[in-house]
Amino acid sequence: MSDFHTVISGGVVVTEASQERADIGIADGRIAAIGAGLRGARVIDASGRLVMPGGVDTHCHIEQLRADGTTDEEGFVSGSVSAFAGGTTSVVTFSMQFKGQAIGPSLAAYRERAGKAMVDYAFHQIITDATDEVIRDEIPALAAAGIRSLKVFLTYDPLHLDDRGYLRVLAAARRAGMLVTVHCENYEAIGWMTEALLAAGLSAPKYHAWSRPVMLEREATYRAIALAELVDQPIQIFHVSCAEVAEEVARAQARGVKVWAETCPQYLTLTQEDMDRPGFEGAKFMCSPAPRGADAAAGLWGQIADGTIWNISSDHSGFSFEGDRGKRAAGPAPNFRDVLNGVPGLAARLPLVFSEGVSAGRISACDFVRLTATNPARLFGLQEKGRIEVGADADLVLWDPERRVTLTNGVMQHAIDYTPYEGRVVTGWPVLTMRRGEVVMQEGVVTARPGSGRYLARGAYEFIRPAGRLPNGFDASAFG
Ligand code: URP
Ligand code: ZN
Ligand code: ZN
Repeated sequence: MSDFHTVISGGVVVTEASQERADIGIADGRIAAIGAGLRGARVIDASGRLVMPGGVDTHCHIEQLRADGTTDEEGFVSGSVSAFAGGTTSVVTFSMQFKGQAIGPSLAAYRERAGKAMVDYAFHQIITDATDEVIRDEIPALAAAGIRSLKVFLTYDPLHLDDRGYLRVLAAARRAGMLVTVHCENYEAIGWMTEALLAAGLSAPKYHAWSRPVMLEREATYRAIALAELVDQPIQIFHVSCAEVAEEVARAQARGVKVWAETCPQYLTLTQEDMDRPGFEGAKFMCSPAPRGADAAAGLWGQIADGTIWNISSDHSGFSFEGDRGKRAAGPAPNFRDVLNGVPGLAARLPLVFSEGVSAGRISACDFVRLTATNPARLFGLQEKGRIEVGADADLVLWDPERRVTLTNGVMQHAIDYTPYEGRVVTGWPVLTMRRGEVVMQEGVVTARPGSGRYLARGAYEFIRPAGRLPNGFDASAFG
């Protein structure tokens, strides 16, 4: 007589708080029991494995709509395969607002595309135009539709918001009960530097990093935090590239501001030097903020360990190296200003963080779970995800902590034609991924059915409630 549909037996169960041998009983797609000697109709032997929550990747550009009616190359089906191959079971992707347009139609089109997903998914809404209609009507409508996070860009043409637009979004988010995520780089200074570099004939991929050095990310991060402080609106700083930037976050956290920081594996493993490879090869490593100097990773690991950095996501970006939709969309070797920014990393995220973090002795397996699953779920209101607890979704990954794997583009199983981690050897590997109790990946073979992913509608949640610290006690967000 079996008590559960499935039992994962004999593994070491890792949560953010503990690591101990236990069985997990699964019924109706949820974790029903954690204990010893559990009996299931199906038993999965996890001896020698770590059993961890499936990864929660809260920064993924998947099938993102473009203004010309096309999309980024990574699709919801290929992105799901890649996510499962790398041990990730939930993603948050981006619905785009096009400047001069309402949000509603592009969100509806994006939702339809996402219906093919196999991974469970939620959306951030990018706000590029803080019109009266967006602020008054559309942002509250997003909350009602289960979208509880907005992304604003302080740089990039044509996406960026000026400070007034950013403030309007912060205030609207405060009224609607949402988190604001921010891309922090100084728009005007990058534009000025870019023009100077190109005028000097410095156009190769490596000059992308010269156009946007650390102080421009640091300045924008300080400004993003200061304006959030003015409104008393919680924010997360996306893709923090180095210690100098994280220091701004740490200082604000110390004075009680509700600000969280995310970093990504590319800032822990790639450097500015990678963009200096021969020919156009350096474009494979171009993302914004740019990878920094060789000592940046050590600084970031310090701030991961001390809790300043809370979340490690992939910032997976669906641009191939070849072809006319990716890095070479503007020609065979365009100048750095015309190269799409971003690197793919959905499948590589967990193996890289485990290898560089846990296997290298920088963090514990519990820290790994917290940084890649539990904290992201907590911060973005994904209540059923990122935890191994009775009642949580049975999203699990069985991990072989000893297995050494050479990363290749084939192993990533994404739709992109390269990985910036080609040839890198990692220690620790996901051997089985389970989404809501269903085995969706075993030894690299993904078996989920397109359309089986679930949209994760998010309701109001306590974690992102404003701190209640307004300058002079005046709540300007109530007026505009
Ligand atoms: O270079 C990057 N990070 N591209 C993706 C878009 C973004 O800014 O997150
Ligand atoms: Zn960004
Ligand atoms: Zn991004």
